[in-house]
Amino acid sequence: MLYKTVEMPGWEKIGEVVYKNLPEEYKLHGGFRSHDPALFQKCKPLVDCISIYTSWNNVSDVAVVSVPPNKLWPIHTDWKITFPFSLNIPIYNCTTETRTSFYKVKDQEKFITKHSDKKKVESKEYLEYNSLPEGHVFELEDVEEIDSYHLTEPTLYRIDVPHSIFNSGSQQRLSLSVRFREWVEF
Ligand SMILES: [Fe+2]
Repeated sequence: MLYKTVEMPGWEKIGEVVYKNLPEEYKLHGGFRSHDPALFQKCKPLVDCISIYTSWNNVSDVAVVSVPPNKLWPIHTDWKITFPFSLNIPIYNCTTETRTSFYKVKDQEKFITKHSDKKKVESKEYLEYNSLPEGHVFELEDVEEIDSYHLTEPTLYRIDVPHSIFNSGSQQRLSLSVRFREWVEF
């Protein structure tokens, strides 16, 4: 499973609260800003929505993902993965103009031998998720797109599979990425 939508009654309020309290620099500049989850604990709609599925203590990281207009985010795998999914929640301008794509590599061996920590690749637990290296940026010619979705409601998606975001619109697009320490059933 690469992605699936998650039932979260009242999730629309998360965007309103976060956007209102977000420093202007996060709205204007593209990037992935990672924050201590304690900072977001003040956002009651977010804490309430998370508590449907797991305790707040299981949240390892909450990040603001900001994608400028007409920008392709590089194809990458995330790093420091403890749970191979991120819960993404729309914050601002999350329309069908922005697309998240997933890719498979054409030659998996190339990445295991060239870029991975051998010990990590041999770990059974790691192989159950994916044998690609973490925190790697892939060239377009090394991958092919296998699936995509538009983030218009809370969605769980794989962060250990190469992915990218393309904002074809004329406005900045903001979402939240919530990461977890241990497995959560959504
Ligand atoms: Fe990512």
